[in-house]
Amino acid sequence: MSPVHPREAATHTETPPVVRLADYEPPRYLVERVSLGISLHPRETRVHSRLDIRPNPAAGPEAGPLALDGERLVLHAVTLDGQPLGPGQYSLTDERLVIHEPPSRPFTLEIETSCDPDANTELSGLYRSNGVYCTQCEAEGFRRITYYIDRPDVLATFTTRIEAAAADAPVLLSNGNPVEAGALDDGRHYAVWHDPFPKPSYLFALVAGDLAQVEDRFITASGREVSLRIYVEPGKEDRCGWAMDSLKRAMRWDEEAFGREYDLDVFMIVAVPDFNMGAMENKGLNVFNDKYILARPDTATDADYAHIESIIAHEYFHNWTGNRVTCRDWFQLCLKEGLTVFRDQEFTIATRSGTAKRIADVRLLRNQQFPEDAGPLAHPVRPSQYMEINNFYTATVYEKGAEIVRMMRNLIGADAFRRGMDLYFDRHDGQAATVEQFLACMEEASGRNLQQFMTWYEQAGTPHVTIATRFEPAAGRLSIQAAQVTPPTPGQGDKQPLLIPLAFGLVGAGGRDLPLQGATAGAEAGVLELAEPQQSWTFKGLDERPVLSVNRGFSAPVRVKTDLSDADWLFLMGHDPDEFNRWEAGQIYAKRLLIALAQACIEGRRLWDAPDYAEALRRSLRDQSLTPALQAELLTLPSEADLASEIGRNVEPVAIHAARQHLGGFIGRTLGEDLREAYEQGDVPGPYSPDPDSAGRRSLRAAALTLLAAGDPASGAALALGQFEAGRNMTEIFSALAVLARLDRPEREHALAAFYDRAADDHLLVDKWLSLHALGPFPSTPHRVRALMDHSAFSLRKPNKVRALIGTFAGSNPVAFNDRSGEGYQLLADVLLALDPINPQVAARLAGNFKSWRMLEPQRQALAGREIARVQAAPALSRDLTEIISMIAK
Ligand code: TRP
Ligand code: ZN
Repeated sequence: MSPVHPREAATHTETPPVVRLADYEPPRYLVERVSLGISLHPRETRVHSRLDIRPNPAAGPEAGPLALDGERLVLHAVTLDGQPLGPGQYSLTDERLVIHEPPSRPFTLEIETSCDPDANTELSGLYRSNGVYCTQCEAEGFRRITYYIDRPDVLATFTTRIEAAAADAPVLLSNGNPVEAGALDDGRHYAVWHDPFPKPSYLFALVAGDLAQVEDRFITASGREVSLRIYVEPGKEDRCGWAMDSLKRAMRWDEEAFGREYDLDVFMIVAVPDFNMGAMENKGLNVFNDKYILARPDTATDADYAHIESIIAHEYFHNWTGNRVTCRDWFQLCLKEGLTVFRDQEFTIATRSGTAKRIADVRLLRNQQFPEDAGPLAHPVRPSQYMEINNFYTATVYEKGAEIVRMMRNLIGADAFRRGMDLYFDRHDGQAATVEQFLACMEEASGRNLQQFMTWYEQAGTPHVTIATRFEPAAGRLSIQAAQVTPPTPGQGDKQPLLIPLAFGLVGAGGRDLPLQGATAGAEAGVLELAEPQQSWTFKGLDERPVLSVNRGFSAPVRVKTDLSDADWLFLMGHDPDEFNRWEAGQIYAKRLLIALAQACIEGRRLWDAPDYAEALRRSLRDQSLTPALQAELLTLPSEADLASEIGRNVEPVAIHAARQHLGGFIGRTLGEDLREAYEQGDVPGPYSPDPDSAGRRSLRAAALTLLAAGDPASGAALALGQFEAGRNMTEIFSALAVLARLDRPEREHALAAFYDRAADDHLLVDKWLSLHALGPFPSTPHRVRALMDHSAFSLRKPNKVRALIGTFAGSNPVAFNDRSGEGYQLLADVLLALDPINPQVAARLAGNFKSWRMLEPQRQALAGREIARVQAAPALSRDLTEIISMIAK
């Protein structure tokens, strides 16, 4: 048969179809075994696939036609049990190969196709990154390699034979254990890999190229030896140490905390420069964006080291939560992602500073997830429909998903949770599971009915909890009244009450928790379980007025409003026995103040100072019981994004920025001496180490520098420039640059140019350099960013470059992105239109930066709306961008 070519990518004149959870049906056919023979070539890679298929008994007696997914493939041949199929026996479209009448017994299908790795700019399926062949199959990339039943509930064992030119690709990798390898004619060679664990196609991976290897080993709890290998671009071997160290600690921790051991003879990680996301948990062969592997003190910051550690852990933990137990369908994505984020968070809490990690995660949730939940992209942690699944790898699924698991653990207790996890692994190993099945394990292990809790997965939007307290001194009685409301979200007008566990304490004047003597059952344990729209609790035997400290440790992902006074917040900031809530009290105080200041800016009123707040910060700087990391968090004002989402409507980004600058400046001047001392103390001597104490001291130094520069830009710039020039590691250098980049001063240009000179041949440092330009809160920044798009270092084909420059500009610089000229919106729209044909996944994600446009004041809203409409009206948008932009435009 002659090869059948795919038509050009379909252009979508109508809206792409919607996939619904309610329409789920089990697969009609199952695949038992997959044998792949892949002969690599940059422009025409040949794939021979042999599939052992059988009708799925669960799909009923008549399995019917067999539909295989496939995109951008050239079909050369199909045979069934060795017999070539003729044109009448199958049909072919852009998206599918359908075998009309397969047998009703097990059979073998062989398919020969080819694909073009070099033409693959979407970075989904098989592509080349800097000359290295690699794959990305989650969520639906395997269908760009061969025709297959490309859905997560079809699990098969894979044997993969890879063939390539030995000179181009001396290293040939796939999932599982190595079986054999050898030389072939014409300078080619081959390797065979076998993965004995049944897996869905999204976990398939192949890597081939000229890569250097760093090797170590790990002995599992039961005494098996595992070979650990990290593959990187030759010459980068000296930047793999931290990743390897993190991996070994993560492997040990999963054994200790969850009783989970690794299960293959080798565990491999490959670092590539071109990647759509952070990393991917392919069975036995994780593929990483190289910015989350490569680290050396002179190239990576403390933040980079922390990201590497947690992403290494995250992908490793997927081996059990995601791979051994996978998802039945993509609606269950949070089953692996929320749970695995929870596990990586717990790993970091256990191995680094606990409160600081919790604060970082809550900041992330507030900056990213709360705005998502409050805008046009709001969706439940388990969505009920999508157009393009890649658009649902969101802060809601990941971070709110993790918060739900955390709430559940806290509700049923750590022991029951661990038993529930054991049961889940036991019962569902080798299966594709659902959220309901996960909850059923937790119910069985704890004996608690979690039916109402399920609503957390199904209902979008951040609940608002309002709390009022009343103390009757004569009776020694405190009553607490709480009410919950979840505002409507698109397509979900009516909201159910949720089960909201609010950890709390009653703090006495001495700064200790008063004993809880409840007149209401259940609250003595320190948790108010709010399950109704309104509820109240009473406590008695109190001989002084307590201050309520609630939602301790951020026990529920909600917005809380309490009736505490400014004095109460300052008191909790200094005295709450719950460290997290000391930070939270400071944030709440600062938010109230900053919102009032921003309003005064808008009305042209004079701004005022906040000596009480500054003094409270001074006390915390002098409080020896606090770690430097926590002091740094206390000194860091709520972000502009957090403030905007708290204000919620008629947002004026310049006023928010001005208010924050004003307060920061006042604190910088008022705390001058103390800040300078903290700054000096943060100059950690000796060789760089990423340990939590050293990193904490450096972060206090950075927070102090930020405030000092706000207090006096001239001396702050000089101090920062000195730090940049003397910097002994990238953390010092970058924190100085981050301050300079936001100052409209000559030192800024000087330092950025000097940084480029040392960054130019290191692609990860160039990303940092690009992002620094994008951070300037100036009206000239949109122009700057546009000019940098023509720089030789920038390319729309490289997601890291796009994220560093455009992502930073649109996502981390509210002042410049929302410039009243509208140039920021125009810039983003132009980039979306240019990027969409190249890489729709990255374009759609970038488009998310328009998500809060309806919160803006009317003039900016009009300017943003025009650009959103311009994108929406463009012809031939991808399914990815169509979905996001039309949700935003609604
Ligand atoms: N499953 C990956 C993780 O969370 C992320 C992921 C999803 C991904 N889709 C992707 C990575 C596409 C790269 C490309 O660990
Ligand atoms: Zn993940």
